[in-house]
Amino acid sequence: MSTPRDEDRLMDHKYDDIQEYDNPLPTWWNVIFWATIIWSIIYFLNVIPGVGSGKGRQALYEDEMAKAQELYGSPEQQAEAAIDEGAMAAALADPAKLEAGKVVFATTCSPCHNMDGGGNIGPNMTDDYWIHGNSPKAILTTITKGVPEKGMPTWAATLKPDQIANVAAYITTLRGTKPAVAKEPQGILMTPDGQPAGADSGAVK
Ligand code: HEC
Repeated sequence: MSTPRDEDRLMDHKYDDIQEYDNPLPTWWNVIFWATIIWSIIYFLNVIPGVGSGKGRQALYEDEMAKAQELYGSPEQQAEAAIDEGAMAAALADPAKLEAGKVVFATTCSPCHNMDGGGNIGPNMTDDYWIHGNSPKAILTTITKGVPEKGMPTWAATLKPDQIANVAAYITTLRGTKPAVAKEPQGILMTPDGQPAGADSGAVK
């Protein structure tokens, strides 16, 4: 037997003698249902910043890189900033900076140039023969840009400009010192102020 209230809820059709109730969905359910649909449209269209899949990882990466370039300059500008003769001269006059340069040399350069600069895979730093020149600018340029095809890495990618200035200053202090094992001269005989030491300087390979 059905109560009068149940009668009210009965729908007016009848199939195979079966009648059904009209059971409307609760309001809270409907609200959530429509909210998810509206949310999905907003999400899909990406109209509200922070809601949606955004511009995608590639675009986000490029944005970040562009911001970094604005802050720190392009890799080329960073390399140019490391070729700073003023900073190298300042390092030469400052024992603390020379000491910092020595630490960079010991940790970063010695595997190829030896701890005392006598040379190994890389050339001897204690003699007066230079392949790429020994003016401050030439030394800074060689360190900053490297000679990748000959096995000298590009240090602008790893070292900061002040570290490059410090280590460049430090290697000039090795001139004339007596390394345990001195590698044979490579390049051209140079005067200390960065000039080829004359026509009879005798280039060594
Ligand atoms: C992986 C080995 C390697 C490391 C590490 C390395 N160098 Fe070199 N370096 C070389 C080689 C090889 C050359 C010779 C390049 C050529 O033949 O043109 C060279 C050349 C140089 C020259 C030019 C010498 C010349 O005769 O003109 C300088 C200056 C120099 N290196 C400084 C450094 C400094 C400073 C560091 C550490 C920050 C360093 N190198 C680390 C391998 C290395």
